[in-house]
Order: sequence, then structure tokens, then C-alpha cells
Amino acid sequence: MTKDIPGIDRLTRYDVAVWDGDGPVPHDVLTAEVSTARGLLCMLTDRIDGDLLEGAPHLEIVSQMAVGVDNIDIEACDRAGVIVGHTPEVLTETVADSAWALLGSIVRRLPEGEREVRAGGWGPWEVFHLAGGDLHRTTLGIVGMGRIGQAVARRAAGFDMEVVYSSPDAVPESGARRVELGELLVEADHVVVCTRLDDNTRGLIGAEELAKMKPTAYLVNVARGPIVDTDALVTALREGEIAGAALDVTDPEPLPGDHPLLDLDNCLVVPHIGSASVRTRNEMSRLAIDNLIAGLEGRELPARYPSGG
Ligand code: DGY
Repeated sequence: MTKDIPGIDRLTRYDVAVWDGDGPVPHDVLTAEVSTARGLLCMLTDRIDGDLLEGAPHLEIVSQMAVGVDNIDIEACDRAGVIVGHTPEVLTETVADSAWALLGSIVRRLPEGEREVRAGGWGPWEVFHLAGGDLHRTTLGIVGMGRIGQAVARRAAGFDMEVVYSSPDAVPESGARRVELGELLVEADHVVVCTRLDDNTRGLIGAEELAKMKPTAYLVNVARGPIVDTDALVTALREGEIAGAALDVTDPEPLPGDHPLLDLDNCLVVPHIGSASVRTRNEMSRLAIDNLIAGLEGRELPARYPSGG
């Protein structure tokens, strides 16, 4: 586990190895440390693959401090009899807040305005200067109507929006209309990606899908970078196929400082901070440690993966 996790002191009865270097623990160091461990508390930056698991014969529980587990080979864990915990629920509302913060910022061109002011470029007031889109009385499209998608949808009522969503399962009583992805992309004024990353959703939003969106539409991704094809997105933003994008997650991640996305005025990128409120990060730490301890004690995990949504 990494040094920043609040509540590590709850583990004093165990022999705990803590990574205290900068950035994520290197894969070879993690593999070596896990070879004798019964439990692992990991982050979305740690790759938990078949080789690591093969070299960890005593491992019983992998507790991920995130809801998404695309960095973990779940089938290999199943084969090895290793149970997986994650942190759903506790971050749902915070990520939904972030989606709305990103959407509002890009639609109303706040990053452009802020850059202009900081650069000393605030000139005389002009009628259409930095005029953007609207949120209210528009159509919001949600790709993936799990817990986070539903929390995003609930907030849309305050903006008097119509909500459409695409999802393998219908969500009763959400007040939103379920449509196929293609229809959603054509209809929506704003598209928010909330779905999990797996083999079905990798590259889900590519050139063809972006071309279906309105030229006035905005795209927000608070899920995982590889769900959106980055090169296709750069082209769509450059060519004005869509009006803008706001990304909490990218592919690759971290995004290099000289990446073409960062040259585009109509793109807002933040460094995967969707769940980063102090309260929520504390809750995620607590739940990850609860999962870890339950696994080590042979009890049912409070949040075992898969847990739906
Ligand atoms: C998650 O939990 O999967 C988020 O992406 C990290 O906060």
C-alpha cells in the first residue's frame, strides 16, 4: 500500500509493507513485496496481473481503493482464489459533482476565460465574446447508467434537462429515456461517459461515434480514458465536429504536457480527480481498509467486486 492512506494505523497487528517512494510503486517492487503477502491494498495505478498473482501464493485479498478495477485481472484473481474488494457507493456523488463541474466549465468556456484574464488579456466587453452553450433546457446523454450515471442524471432535474441514456440494463424510475448509443449521440447536447472500462467499452466512443454528435455538443469523460479514442477526439475537436470536451481521465494517463489535446482551447483536462474531495477520499480509504481486514479475517467483504453498477 502507499503511504498517504489515512487509517493505516488500524493495521498495526499485521506486518505491513508501505511504499513510501514518489508516485506509484514500480511493478517489480510490488511483485516482490506481494510474493509473501496475504493481503494487498492497491491503487488504480497498480497492475495486478496473472504473473504477479502467480508469484503470490499466499495472497487472499486484493483491496483496491477505487471503484473501477480495470487494472486488476479479475479472471486471474478468480483462478487464484483471490477475492477482490473495491470502493463503490462512497464516491458516487462526488464523481457526479465532478462531472457537472466539468460540463459547466467547458460549456460556458470558463477555462478559456480564466486563461485570458490571467494572461492580462481582459479587453472591453463584447456581445459574443466567449459565448458558449447552455445547460438548462438541453438534452443530456449519459453513457452507462450505473450508480454514477444515475447520480449525474438526478442533478439534471435542477437544470430542467431531458435525460437519455444508453446502458445494458434499463433503470426503472430514473425519469430518463433509454436509447441505443447511436441515438443518444445524435440527440444529446451534452454527452457524459460514466460506464466502466472493459472489453465491451474500450474504444466505445471513436471517430464514427463522435461524427454522430452535434457540432454544438460537448463530451465529458469521468470514467476511464480508453473508452474514448484519443486520436479521434483530437481530430473531432480540431475539425469542429463537436464543440468541446472535458476530461477527468485520458488515454494515456498521465497525459504528457506536449499532448495535442492540450493545444486545443475547446478541451479541458484535469488529472483524474473525479473522486478527490477530502471527505470522499477519507471514505474510500476507510472502506478499502475495511475490505482488507475483512478479507484477512475471512469475513464477508463490505464491498466485494463485482457489486453491480
Ligand atoms: C475510481 O474509483 O475508479 C476512480 O476513478 C478513482 O477515484
